Amino acid sequence: MTQEHANKGGFETRAIHAGYEPDPTTGAVNPPIYASSTYKQDGVGGLRGGYEYSRSANPTRTALEGALAAVESGERGFAFASGLAAEDTLLRSLTRPGDHLVIPDDAYGGTFRLVDKVAQPWGVEHTPAPISDLDKVAAAIQPGRTRLVWVETPTNPLLNIGDIEALATVAHDAGALLVVDNTFASPYLQQPLTLGADVVVHSTTKYVGGHSDVVGGALVVRDLDLAERIGFHQNAMGAVAGPFDAYLTHRGLKTLAVRMDRHCDNAERIVDFLCAHPAVGDVIYPGLETHPGHHVAGKQMKRFGGMISFRVRAGEQKALDVCAATEVFTLGESLGGVESLIEHPGRMTHASVAGTELEVPGDLVRLSVGIETVEDLIGDLDRALG
Ligand SMILES: Cc1ncc(COP(=O)(O)O)c(C=O)c1O
Repeated sequence: MTQEHANKGGFETRAIHAGYEPDPTTGAVNPPIYASSTYKQDGVGGLRGGYEYSRSANPTRTALEGALAAVESGERGFAFASGLAAEDTLLRSLTRPGDHLVIPDDAYGGTFRLVDKVAQPWGVEHTPAPISDLDKVAAAIQPGRTRLVWVETPTNPLLNIGDIEALATVAHDAGALLVVDNTFASPYLQQPLTLGADVVVHSTTKYVGGHSDVVGGALVVRDLDLAERIGFHQNAMGAVAGPFDAYLTHRGLKTLAVRMDRHCDNAERIVDFLCAHPAVGDVIYPGLETHPGHHVAGKQMKRFGGMISFRVRAGEQKALDVCAATEVFTLGESLGGVESLIEHPGRMTHASVAGTELEVPGDLVRLSVGIETVEDLIGDLDRALG
């Protein structure tokens, strides 16, 4: 399929065909893993297809980057060694000492650590704000200094929802750009660039890769000036995805739509179960009508995703015991893979925000619902909750 044709297709067609046409020499339907750091030149400066050195560009990575741009309805995609490498490259591409960021007051712990412990000492300051409250986000902006309004939606781990379209207006009115970390929703459920965001961030380690076998990150933009700045920094800083990782991530992306639908089906069933369980307090899932972001999520997401958080009535120790007691749900960090994971954010993924205003409740448990047989998942939670 030609790229022109692929890029005009539906989501699944783009995920499978964008970024790569079968190899003209062999007809290989998958992008070869170009394990080559350098490329023969036809005379000095005579590059074949623009390839000279694999930090600058590698054909396996190019294929992934084209596919990522297509599924996010963007113009350019950039693949990195991890989500945090993507975030670091973005921060250094678009901010300078003296600049200011607005970040979610329940940001992913690693993002907060990067902003607070790495960017801040270099002179880029930040103010946390609840991304579901537009007035508070607007109040956190320092006109003339705030370069980026950085949001996740849904957030990790409290699954708060920000209204991307409205946040874009708030950011743009103040001369700032809107960055959306789309890791939790995945491009199948939500495409922030179509709602006015300027930059999409991904930890492709999660739903895009989908099999818990590769760490990676991505940035996607529409604006070509932004693309040039990010592309320059991607090469200058060098935190690129290697060809083996790019191949695995691209392979995962091709099945994102079918996996994501099953993640959502299973999550909906588990939410019903948890809501009826006496040991469970609040169940946090944007698909619940009682969730304060339900309406906005329904407007901007295709479905409500595979992540669920819940509070255990008996408190922190019981929450820890539940996490230790499951057998089908694996106790572990990360999310978005085919296998179900359970974790205690306060002691695990979000330990780095303990003692800050981003601290999460001790009785909170987070589930990344996989695509196993849903009855097995429910039975496992039932046993663990006791
Ligand atoms: C929402 C979110 N953004 C970014 C990251 C960082 O990505 P990585 O672990 O690939 O560096 C994570 C990792 O858990 C995440 O959950």
